[in-house]
Amino acid sequence: MPLNRRKFILNHAALATALLPLGATVRAKAVYASGLSEVFKDDFFLGTAISNKTLSGSDPAMFKLIAQEFNTITAENAMKWQSIHPDHERWDWRLADRFVKFGHEANMLMIGHTLIWHKQTPPTVFFKSRKKQDALISRDLLRKRLRLHVQTVIDRYKRQIALWDVVNEAVTDKGRWRESHWYDIMGEEFLEQAFRAAREADPSAHLMYNDFNMEKRQKQRFVIHILNTLRKRGVTVDGVGLQCHVSLAADAPSIDALEAAIINFAKAGLRVHITELDVDVLPNAWKYKGLHIDDLPIDSDPLDPYKNGLPARIEQQLAERYQALFELFIKHRDKIARVSLWGTSDDESWKNDRPVIGRTNHPLLFDTQKRSKKAYDAIYKLKDKRAP
Ligand code: XIL
Repeated sequence: MPLNRRKFILNHAALATALLPLGATVRAKAVYASGLSEVFKDDFFLGTAISNKTLSGSDPAMFKLIAQEFNTITAENAMKWQSIHPDHERWDWRLADRFVKFGHEANMLMIGHTLIWHKQTPPTVFFKSRKKQDALISRDLLRKRLRLHVQTVIDRYKRQIALWDVVNEAVTDKGRWRESHWYDIMGEEFLEQAFRAAREADPSAHLMYNDFNMEKRQKQRFVIHILNTLRKRGVTVDGVGLQCHVSLAADAPSIDALEAAIINFAKAGLRVHITELDVDVLPNAWKYKGLHIDDLPIDSDPLDPYKNGLPARIEQQLAERYQALFELFIKHRDKIARVSLWGTSDDESWKNDRPVIGRTNHPLLFDTQKRSKKAYDAIYKLKDKRAP
């Protein structure tokens, strides 16, 4: 059936509901997009994350590039609890408002990221006293705070944002509830309360659960189990976000494992979103987590091998890895609503500082000069391989 490519309109709430539930055949496109998102316009939305640096206005060229190449955006940090709601009575909407303004002007599908997470949330949310972080608040009080936060944020952007990462990273790789202040205080209930609050605030929104390593079977099963349990209790979750922070190593994770994840989540009745794609090209340095590369022993130098640029051989491997990933996404285009990169150019990637601070990674589609890389071309060329 030919796709009805309606122009994207301001009232995303109604549109996204029409677009995104299982079986939807309507797609939209951004007005200015002429780049990569055009290639996939009949498959899925293609997006990126916008950094606080860009939102602060210090990089106008970045806005231009994003508007050209993508049709959906996520705020990398600007909508997280600590940014938007730094203190009980204090809300700071500045960067989030800019995100929405740009999204509106460039006709982007906007993703709200993220309402409830154990990270980037001020400790004052959970503790009785500002000074002494030993006594946690009561379950009732935290439930009230959760509802107030979720509903205030959704309410403010209701006309512009219809897709929300409601809960982020609540499950461990082993398939258990993650220990966090949310879980310690509220138990499993926090997941349900978050989705209930979001659903009440915007009944037609597309609500998602987002996590990393979703290809790990135990995690996958547990996520499906808890989302099914919510459904039985009358709270519907529409989509699931596979972050997809992957690496060059062939087994990290394998295409087969990712494919199984996409299929299993779709079978469970969830729309699949690839939410934070990037491909780490650096050697694994987790044992040095949080340290600065300059402070590591000299024999750890091999941990930062590409500070003067990516050798052609590795650039080629990166292109092949991206191509394999996108071939998989195209194959499952009936299940995948969106593929979002976690940033646009290599210099802004969080992967330069994680797990070790100050390395030079090359995980994205554009280099530090905002020039498209081989990986970009490899994906772009997939256009030719497809039936007209
Ligand atoms: C990261 C940002 O990219 C960094 O700038 C920030 O310092 C930490 O958070 N999973 C998520 C994202 O859901 O919000 C995280 O973003 C990356 C991992």
